[in-house]
Amino acid sequence: MKKIVILTGAGMSVESGLATFRGGGGLWDNYPVEQVATPEGFAANPSLVLEFYNKRRVELLGVAPNEGHRLVASLEEKYDVTVVTQNVDDLHERAGSTSVIHLHGELMKVCSSRNPGDLRYVRTLQPSAPTIKMGDLAADGSQLRPFIVWFGEAVPLMEDAVVAMRDIDAFIIIGTSLNVYPAAGLLHYAPAGVPIYLIDPNDVAAVLPSNVVHIRNGASEGMRRLIDTYLADF
Ligand code: APR
Repeated sequence: MKKIVILTGAGMSVESGLATFRGGGGLWDNYPVEQVATPEGFAANPSLVLEFYNKRRVELLGVAPNEGHRLVASLEEKYDVTVVTQNVDDLHERAGSTSVIHLHGELMKVCSSRNPGDLRYVRTLQPSAPTIKMGDLAADGSQLRPFIVWFGEAVPLMEDAVVAMRDIDAFIIIGTSLNVYPAAGLLHYAPAGVPIYLIDPNDVAAVLPSNVVHIRNGASEGMRRLIDTYLADF
């Protein structure tokens, strides 16, 4: 069975109604990254950070996977697929993808603020109770925090993503500006000669290898074209 890795970013969820980070009207236009997506920001004003992610979690409960998520999931019928996503939403899973590596954490999960990487203290919030507040404690007695990898924090699952890139037959990149490392560096683990497809309506600033096929569409239209054209006799 042919092996495919799909690296996705915020653009994957645009058609579901979730904002990107760096395009016009992106999340970082409205919230200073330092305040809501760094350990320093959390230490300085934990309530603000809890509120920021509570709002995003409640918003996530109100949106659904789009056709692009469903087409990504449908590839599992024919190929061995691993989705490596920078997204913290659960839309890939809700669309049916069964192998998803979340490099930057998961919005529906919370963890210990003393030991954020210790999976023993990670809890999944239920849609019926999607928010946390000051005084909600993890099992180690520390304040619960979002299970999100903030800027400056380690990206423990990058090793799993690099292993997933070994001996792949195709690499697909959807909806990421390839601005943030180490995630963007995954591009360089594609074995030589492996076809690389980039689905993005815009140009990306990153320097791309010459063999990248840029499909200039949104995620759904781009995945449809990829499947109909490039994977037809794959
Ligand atoms: N379909 C596909 N791609 C789209 C669409 C769409 N409908 N609309 C926009 N895009 C593209 C944009 O052109 C851009 O290249 O999605 C990309 C979004 O880029 P960013 O906003 O930078 O998001 P992302 O690359 O996922 O950011 C990476 O940065 O802030 C951190 O942790 C955060 O995971 C995030 C990381």
